Amino acid sequence: MAVEIIDQTRLPHAFVVVRLETLDDAAQAIRAMLVRGAPLIGATAAWGLWLAMRTEASDLGLGRAHATLLATRPTAVNLRWALDRVRAQLVGLPPAERAAASRKLATAICDEDVAINRGIAAAGLPLIRAVAGRKPPGTPVNILTHCNAGWLATVDIGTATAPIYAAHDAGVPVHVWVDETRPRNQGASLTAWELLNHGVPHTVIADNAGGHLMQRGEVDLVIVGTDRTTATGDVCNKIGTYLKALAAHDNAVPCYVAVPSPSIDWTLRDGLREIPIEERGARELSHLTGRLADGSIAMVALLPEGSPVANPAFDVTPARLITGLITERGICHASADGLRVLFPEKAPV
Ligand code: MRU
Repeated sequence: MAVEIIDQTRLPHAFVVVRLETLDDAAQAIRAMLVRGAPLIGATAAWGLWLAMRTEASDLGLGRAHATLLATRPTAVNLRWALDRVRAQLVGLPPAERAAASRKLATAICDEDVAINRGIAAAGLPLIRAVAGRKPPGTPVNILTHCNAGWLATVDIGTATAPIYAAHDAGVPVHVWVDETRPRNQGASLTAWELLNHGVPHTVIADNAGGHLMQRGEVDLVIVGTDRTTATGDVCNKIGTYLKALAAHDNAVPCYVAVPSPSIDWTLRDGLREIPIEERGARELSHLTGRLADGSIAMVALLPEGSPVANPAFDVTPARLITGLITERGICHASADGLRVLFPEKAPV
């Protein structure tokens, strides 16, 4: 038995399923972004612990597997959330029972993610309906999204895309502005592919186009995902999200963040100072991969040889720029008080 994943580095040009057989396979799939997106990273890590427990279920093996997976990517808190949750359950069990138990836990984490996606869809749909109700009948609601917080990034219908799919499926006309999302192009390669396959009208735009479209009244709503949201409502997401939120604020365009509760880091209050921002390799910026006219895939260089590159992969949008957080329990104000109303069981930090 193995864990099967979609290799997202091959999309949109090829749909390739890869089998993960070992702990190192799972760690490498997360590190090299064959799987990516905060909820999917968490789910894959949980399955990585299962793969590890099948061969080395001692306390040492559990500790090593937890540490190996935790070190793969630093920003999405779902990784730590899933790993800590599984480890906490396994430590009290004899090693012989750990493989079966971790499999059950990984399954539960995936099932819960499906329910969370559906909850976000239910919470966000009325927002889109309300905007549609203020527009001439049949006019699409224009929604801008950044990166990929779609089904590829989760177990089911995504987070930011969940209300969009729900609206489209319910017959509410929507049109999505898809930020290309340099340097890895998750918008152009993944979100566009998802929306195309689901029949959702969309247009891919350069990352720099969003502000201009907002000034012209061509964006009704911004909905993005998150990799880590603090207990005070600061949102860390793919690099460039902050600029979209700033432009939205300047143009009075509502800016919502789809936040599954496992992406909330209840231990943090100050996103700018406290969230670790992943710094990725220069090649992601200096090179581009794409399909040539003959159908082959090629990588080309973009920069003058020798120009230094910086590649911070995420940024933090302060809570004050966010209109609301769409969680599986409903929509709340992006603040400690707002989050506490929906999650009263979480101890105040
Ligand atoms: O670097 P990535 O592709 O893993 O970053 C993904 C994002 O920033 C998503 O918006 C976020 O993880 C939410 S996915 C539901």
